[in-house]
Amino acid sequence: MPLTLADCIARDGGNASLRGLRERFAPGAPDTLYFDANSIGPMPADAPARMQAVLQQGWAEARRRGWNELDWLEQPAKLGAAIAPVIGAQAEDVRVADSTSINQYKLLRFALALQAPRRVIVVQRDVFPSNRYAAEGIAQAGGAELRFLDDIAALPAALAPGDVAVVALSHVDYRDSTRLDMASANAQVRAAGALSLWDLSHSAGAVAIALRGTDSDLAVGCGYKYLCGGPGAPAFLYVHPRHAEGAWPAVCGWMGHADTFAFEPDYRPAPGPDRFLVGTPPVLAQAAFAAAAAVWREVDPQALDAQHRSLGDTLIQLLDEQCAGFGIELASPREHARRGGHVALRFAHAAPLAQALVHHGVVVSARKPEALRFAPHPLTATHEQLWTAVARLRDLLQREAWRDPRYQQASV
Ligand SMILES: Cc1ncc(COP(=O)(O)O)c(C=O)c1O
Repeated sequence: MPLTLADCIARDGGNASLRGLRERFAPGAPDTLYFDANSIGPMPADAPARMQAVLQQGWAEARRRGWNELDWLEQPAKLGAAIAPVIGAQAEDVRVADSTSINQYKLLRFALALQAPRRVIVVQRDVFPSNRYAAEGIAQAGGAELRFLDDIAALPAALAPGDVAVVALSHVDYRDSTRLDMASANAQVRAAGALSLWDLSHSAGAVAIALRGTDSDLAVGCGYKYLCGGPGAPAFLYVHPRHAEGAWPAVCGWMGHADTFAFEPDYRPAPGPDRFLVGTPPVLAQAAFAAAAAVWREVDPQALDAQHRSLGDTLIQLLDEQCAGFGIELASPREHARRGGHVALRFAHAAPLAQALVHHGVVVSARKPEALRFAPHPLTATHEQLWTAVARLRDLLQREAWRDPRYQQASV
């Protein structure tokens, strides 16, 4: 029996533990359905008030005293602790700071320092550009040798020479949303004496992740996507405690010094993961992220995972039933455990079709060459919205609306 609108509405009645959290987010523009959590997650409703408080009490009134009187310097650890459960980490092992690209660089270099004299970085050949660029930059400066991975099945061969320092893996492919098996990859990496560095940008805040449970070494990820930290939010980094004090950080700055305000001439790394902090934190951005952190403290990661699964499976079923025969096909794995945050479709005219959908109030994105990405946020999207979105998609496909010259210009 094909899914009906009533079935979708009924599915929205499930998952009691997340109920109520949806109301903690701002609704967005009227008549607009947002499936772009892989780009910028929804805004917690109290984010503006929190930012306003920092502007007024912190900037207008406290100014320099804000550093002493407010918790600005504690935020990297507080925000890290709030998101730790959803990535399966201990609260004290996560920090929120800098961007994902910078954290990727910092932890690649840190891994190389831990693993000397090994100097090989294994990195995916066809991956989110920054991941590869960071490794290439280190190699260009003479700090490492690169070995490219074309497929996860080739990991044993890449590790076989026994010279690998670190394997950098994107947990979820940013185009087709294929999710790697973290436990299996970590076991192979560990057996070869190497370290794992995961980019969790397309899974953190969407599905339950078990960094400690799978014995991952290092991880980074975006704060502005499913974690709802706000546009340009700082990223997170995770370092397994067995490594945190094993070497100096790659970028030594005063915020990572053992005694920041002693202004000592010599660098001494702070204990634990505080050493990975570098410079002055982005106080306003942290205030926005703190609104999301307050929500994350209440989220049961298993309930989040179940809701993500329900939304993704429903979307795939609706697409199967309503959009067959239009030259559009599922690009993501069907099995939830192998799928990351979004559901991707393959369509020859993905970019103009995405623009047509946006124009009709369904905010999705496209990535070269043919990926059309739907990323419902598990805390805010509903099954009913998916029904409406797929009905609009079907209508656009029937009318071949993607041919309209208005939709031919490139968009982010
Ligand atoms: C998988 C992945 N890694 C890294 C990044 C870049 O992160 P940042 O801009 O914070 O450096 C992105 C951005 O979309 C991404 O999708």
